[in-house]
Amino acid sequence: MLEVLETIPPDPILTLSEHFIKEVNPKKIDLGIGLYKDISNKTPIMGCVKIAEKKVINNLSADKIYKGSSGLNSFCEMISELLFSNKKELAQEGRVLSFQTIGGTGAIRLSAEIIHQINPERGIWVSNPTWDNHKDIFEYMGMKVYYYPYQGICGELDFQSMLESISIIPRGDVIILHGCGHNPTGIDIKKKQWSKILEVIKDRNLLPIIDMAYHGLAKGLQDDNYCIDLFSSQLDEMFISYSCSKNFGLYSDRIGALIVLTKDRNSCFKVKLQLSRLTRLSCSSPPIHGALIVNEILSSVELKKIWTDEITNMMIRARAARKLLLVESQRQNCARSFIEVGSGVGLFSIIPIKAEGIDILKNNFGIYMLNSGRINISGLNENNIEYFVSSAKPFMNK
Ligand code: LMR
Repeated sequence: MLEVLETIPPDPILTLSEHFIKEVNPKKIDLGIGLYKDISNKTPIMGCVKIAEKKVINNLSADKIYKGSSGLNSFCEMISELLFSNKKELAQEGRVLSFQTIGGTGAIRLSAEIIHQINPERGIWVSNPTWDNHKDIFEYMGMKVYYYPYQGICGELDFQSMLESISIIPRGDVIILHGCGHNPTGIDIKKKQWSKILEVIKDRNLLPIIDMAYHGLAKGLQDDNYCIDLFSSQLDEMFISYSCSKNFGLYSDRIGALIVLTKDRNSCFKVKLQLSRLTRLSCSSPPIHGALIVNEILSSVELKKIWTDEITNMMIRARAARKLLLVESQRQNCARSFIEVGSGVGLFSIIPIKAEGIDILKNNFGIYMLNSGRINISGLNENNIEYFVSSAKPFMNK
């Protein structure tokens, strides 16, 4: 029976990562999957996580019983508090609910399932380019995905084209926006531009899904949150998919949240019932170990301080890696080609590199990046920058 299954291509990001582990080139550089790397090229467990995890394990009154389909309530509350400065008002109005999910991907998937239930004919609009899983998840649900322009030919945000395009999205469709640290371009929307997008969303009655996979790593926790605060004060409805993979370094603990803003208490109640059912049907209730760790960090003044300091250092480190690339490319006389990287934020940039160069870099130099030319900037450091630039230089577009 199984032979009838279609042969499908493996996931490009996860496969690249598996191949990199097997790469034998001693000079190998992983610029593929979005894992934050420190200057020694490690993805260490964060200091705050180590302390919190010990507390979780040593908690004598802890248990392992089911926590219900929305997961650990206190974790859900903490994530909402992190996002909304008007959390109290929203909670009093009964308009916000937060569900623990299996990473940020789980939150997108849950959004797709519930939106599909509401109306499978709704179009889903994503930036060109975007994280491929956005498109794949909604298409898998049988929904139509469309692109709005995002990055211009010189690597900058082509805001004019973006605005023109989203202004004619059919009323009631869904728009996915990256709250911060746009994946894959690293080019974020500016404050004034968010206000213009908000006007379009209101005018076209669009449902925004804000992907918050890199909160804190682009411009810091508060600035990265700008669009959420702005939108939540003016919109009736919005979805936020939150990931704790990068900003807590809890990648394999698969911890995230889906936060839904609703028009009123009654819709909030209905959304909750539907999300509970969808969760029951997929994993019954989410695993809570990661939630306990995040909860421990966010509910302790000391641990929260350690966490914010650590994120700030990660953000600074990513910025420094961008600078390093610019300086080294200037030193090697190829400055023009990496200019886009300098204006980016967060972990990613798309570098203007020829397709054949990407294969050659992988096969002959052990340098791994996505086929789109997306690089994880934190994979670069003082020790490998010279090797990277000299290897990539012959393949860069002018
Ligand atoms: C990435 O874009 O590399 C990360 O978000 C990891 C993933 O799951 O794709």
